[in-house]
Order: sequence, then structure tokens, then C-alpha cells
Amino acid sequence: MPDKVTISLIKADVGSLAGHHIVHREQIELAKKKLQEAKEKGLLIDYYVFNAGDDLELLMTHREGENSPKIHGLAWDTFKEVTEKVSRPLKLYAAGQDLLSEAFSGNVKGMGPGVAEMEIEERRSEPIVVFAADKTEPGAWNLILYKIFADPWNTAGLILDPVMHDGFTFRVMDVQKGECIDLSTPSENYSLLALIGTTGRYVIERVWRNSDKLLAAVASVTRLSLIAGRYVGKDDPVCIVRCQHGLPAVGEALAPFFTPHFVAGWMRGSHYGPLMPVGLKDSRCSFFDGPPRVVALGFQLSGGKLVGPADLFEDAAFDHARRTALQMAEFIRRNGPIAPAILGMEELEYTGIVETLKKLQSKFFKV
Ligand code: F6R
Ligand code: MG
Ligand code: MG
Repeated sequence: MPDKVTISLIKADVGSLAGHHIVHREQIELAKKKLQEAKEKGLLIDYYVFNAGDDLELLMTHREGENSPKIHGLAWDTFKEVTEKVSRPLKLYAAGQDLLSEAFSGNVKGMGPGVAEMEIEERRSEPIVVFAADKTEPGAWNLILYKIFADPWNTAGLILDPVMHDGFTFRVMDVQKGECIDLSTPSENYSLLALIGTTGRYVIERVWRNSDKLLAAVASVTRLSLIAGRYVGKDDPVCIVRCQHGLPAVGEALAPFFTPHFVAGWMRGSHYGPLMPVGLKDSRCSFFDGPPRVVALGFQLSGGKLVGPADLFEDAAFDHARRTALQMAEFIRRNGPIAPAILGMEELEYTGIVETLKKLQSKFFKV
């Protein structure tokens, strides 16, 4: 049997520079040091530390499988140490924000950090793309993953590559109820779309290839507000997509970002804004704390070693998408606090607006 390798991408906002703008260099350095130690001890095969805006991203490869207490513990300890040794002494903003629990209980899921993990048998050549976004939520991937794995206008391979011809199965989580449903495309396309249009509730968590059940993509599904019962920042999501040779090409995985769409998040996690694809150098949110941004890092796995990254959106081809996103940003910001710029009440109910509305309740009179 070929060796299995697990790719774990675990992220958290543990404080940042200049409000919610960007992870501080010293936070990245300390996280690298921690993961380097784990690599030298043999726990990790490889790692790559980067940032999506104010989120610290730990990409790790290992042989411990998904949901390993050792790997989750390493990520948790790293976030804790970065908080205590860098975020707090430098008084970085919102130090330790996403660490919702005091004590680690074996798995970071439900404790604040976001997780996307896949255990795979490494193919003869294994290209992966790691996506990480800031100022948005896991439902932001719904449209993207649908286009990559179910839309022949986006992914020519669905028609041209016989291996993909039987389509893909999507696992969708109802994040309010904590239940999942598996839907196979193309036969259940419309049922899938009937759910994933409601991005705040139904979130794609995994995608398989129908012909052989090969795992093709995983995404994080944490909703911090549902864990904490109040607004604690959006759940800036991550996603890992395997590519090529019977799976969507890297270019097909990137294609949906060429025509940016509106996602929930942005300022105070309470607005719709365009998802702007950027290179690592622009992975920082500025205008109105945004617009929401996404980076795409390409790697080749080689015995679990992360060869790369290729900074995939740092390319002239995506300048056009960035201009489009900024134009969309300008248009929707004309609405200020008026719908559809602002999220619906079911999303806003975790924010401070609830207090204001409560106070106004008693002032209403019957007509
Ligand atoms: C959105 C985000 C920011 C903050 C905003 C206010 O996810 O992180 O837009 O919500 O900067 O932050 P506070 O309330 O911490 O002043
Ligand atoms: Mg933040
Ligand atoms: Mg963030």
C-alpha cells in the first residue's frame, strides 16, 4: 500500500498589526520556529507558514491522519505561544482573538481556529492549491467549489477528461444543525444549488471524484459566532484543492476567481463585498477593512514535502479581476449601511446591533 500523507491547514487570528490589517513578522517567525522544532522531532514532514490578512496560517504535512491530537495540539500550542510571546508584549490588536477556550481538549475544531485537513495517498505527481481568505466566511467557497467541480463553463475537464465525466460528490454541512448531506453532481446539481446559495448556513466541506471516491477538496467550516454565541470576527476560511490528471487543472481551480463574486464579511463581518484574489504581498486588508481577499498557493507534494509555493494570484492575468473587484466594491459601498450592502438580520444578530434594537423595542407604538 502506498504511504498516506495528511495535509493540515490550521489557522487563527491571534492578533494583528494596525487593527485587523496584517499578521506581524515576529508572529510568523515564532510560528516557523515552533513548526521547525516539530519537523526536527519527526512529527511534521514539512510546513509552510504564511498569512491571509490578519490570519496566521499553519500549513503542515505529516503521517498522523486527520484530527490528530498531536497535530492539533501543535497548532494550538503555536497559536498560544505566539499570543503570549508576541501578540501580548507588542500589544497587537485583538491578541488571542480566535482562541475561544482556555484549555486544549484534543482537537482545535470548535475551539476557534479554522481547519482544513485531508489524508491522501500521494499520486505520482500531486499538485495542490491552498486557498486562504480574510474578512469573509466558509460559505465564500460555495460558489468557487461548485464552479471548479460541477460547472463545465469553468472546468473544461468535466467534458474533455473521461476520468471526470462521472462528476463529483459534495458534502454540505448545515452549520446551524451540525448535520451533513452528500450530493452527487451532475445528477443532483439543482438540489446542491438549492442549499449552497444560503452561504451562511450550508457550507461545502469536502468533494470526492465519483469514479473512484478520490478525495479532491476539503474546506474549513467553523462558524465562530455559532460557537461563541456572539460576534467574534468572521471565520476567515481555508480550502485545499488537489489538481490535474483526472482532477481540475490548476488553471480551472483558479478560473472562478477571474470573475469575483460577493461574499459576506468585510467591515465588522457585517457587509457584502467582492472577494479579491491577491498575491501574498497584497494579503492585507485596508479599504473599509477589506475588500475581502484570497491568496492561492500552489505546491507539489513530494513524499509529503511541500515543494513551492507558487504565489498563483501574483500574476498579471488577475489584475483584471482585481480591478473588477474594486469596481464592485465601489458600487456596493454607495449603499453604506443600507441593504443589500449590509447583511440580513439573521447574520447581524450576533453583532452589537442587537443591543440597539432591544432598546428601540419599547419605543414602538401600535398604529
Ligand atoms: C472583520 C474585522 C474588522 C473588525 C473592525 C472592528 O472581520 O475583523 O472589520 O470587525 O475593524 O473591530 P473592533 O470591533 O475590534 O474595533
Ligand atoms: Mg482580526
Ligand atoms: Mg481575519
